[in-house]
Amino acid sequence: MIVQKNVSLKPYNTFGLDVNAGFLAIVDSIDDLDEIYQTGRFRSQKKMVLGGGSNVLFTHGFTGIVAKNEIRGISVQKESSEDVLISVGAGEDWHQFVLWSVERGYGGIENLSLIPGTVGAAPMQNIGAYGVELKEVFHSLEAYEIKSGKTVTFFKEDCHFDYRFSVFKGELKDQFVITKVFFLLSKNPTFNTTYGAIEETLEQMKEKPSLKSISQAVINIRQSKLPDPYDIGNAGSFFKNPVIEKLHFEALEAQFPEIKGYPVGDDAVKVPAGWLIENAGWKGYREGDIGVHENQALVLVNHGMGKGKDIYRLSNEIRRSIEGKFGIELEREVNVI
Ligand code: FAD
Ligand code: EPU
Repeated sequence: MIVQKNVSLKPYNTFGLDVNAGFLAIVDSIDDLDEIYQTGRFRSQKKMVLGGGSNVLFTHGFTGIVAKNEIRGISVQKESSEDVLISVGAGEDWHQFVLWSVERGYGGIENLSLIPGTVGAAPMQNIGAYGVELKEVFHSLEAYEIKSGKTVTFFKEDCHFDYRFSVFKGELKDQFVITKVFFLLSKNPTFNTTYGAIEETLEQMKEKPSLKSISQAVINIRQSKLPDPYDIGNAGSFFKNPVIEKLHFEALEAQFPEIKGYPVGDDAVKVPAGWLIENAGWKGYREGDIGVHENQALVLVNHGMGKGKDIYRLSNEIRRSIEGKFGIELEREVNVI
């Protein structure tokens, strides 16, 4: 296992924050995890797992050991005329796995094209985009129990998936390292093109719905809406879209007729946090090298030399302002370290 001492994490987090790790270990096997968690070598060190670093905000350096997950491997476990069960190493790149599936005609994750990060982090927050969530194609996962060093299998019902949530963000936080994820993809997929601008984009592309064209449409839409972390540091949506009571929404609608909302069941409404933040005047806000993206108010950005603690402080100011103006509490989606 490669272990480096005193390493800058700037290339390892999409905010591009220049903080140091005491140690950085490149982990590509269960043996490597054993070496970190079970042998005496790093006993006194704090530990954390990192995938692609696209959903973390480092507010300071990490004095302990950062285990960068690079456990690889994609293989078909079982297939029928209808579907295919695929096992994927947690350190595989999510988008490359999507392209691999699309290329082979396996459907279900094409709407999740171009989400940065690793396959192992995808179940952590049940990644979602363009009308699809990971849980819809999730079969099971294997995770390394930090306390015992044993591998435990979790099936869908064990994971308590919800909007941007799983048991690994909740009661089992910091207790497991996800090492492998199993997906059940379809060989006769039904296309999901109703969300957002997919249909419109397919028309502009002069393409009929197919796995490839939908994947490309989603890529085009995302590239037009979201900043590329290579150009400008960010971690995608910084906050979750809040779900509020219907009565609260109706009261807001009376005051702000332009407000947007999507029904969740009979009594609740999901409100786009980007709309709230923009309408509280934050869109395009800049303070030194940190700020709020000029086209997508839900994305906080690092223009270069920004500090994580300042982004965190800004996120608190935004939360207070949204609470004051709309009476809505925003919850961070990004994992704050
Ligand atoms: P990291 O940031 O490395 O880690 C995230 C958290 O998971 C950390 O707490 C880490 O400790 C933990 N973790 C990572 N790997 C493991 C593991 N193997 N076992 C246990 N814990 C682990 N998300 C969406 O849902 N939908 C989107 O549309 C979307 N768009 C994005 C667009 C941009 C431009 C960016 C920058 C981010 C976007 N995200 C989106 C957020 C992010 O891509 C996802 O959350 C992604 O799954 C994070 O993967 P990662 O490997 O980078 O995780
Ligand atoms: N909006 C504004 N102002 C803004 C930004 C958005 O008014 O500055 C409005 C838009 O006009 C639109 C609504 O908010 O009516 C929703 O915006 P958008 O379609 O851009 O999606 P989002 O709610 O901001 C969510 C996810 C994204 C995901 C997209 C597409 C969350 C927290 N975010 O964003 O996920 O890619 O939908 O499905 O649910 C992520 O989790 O990191 C992420 C990028």
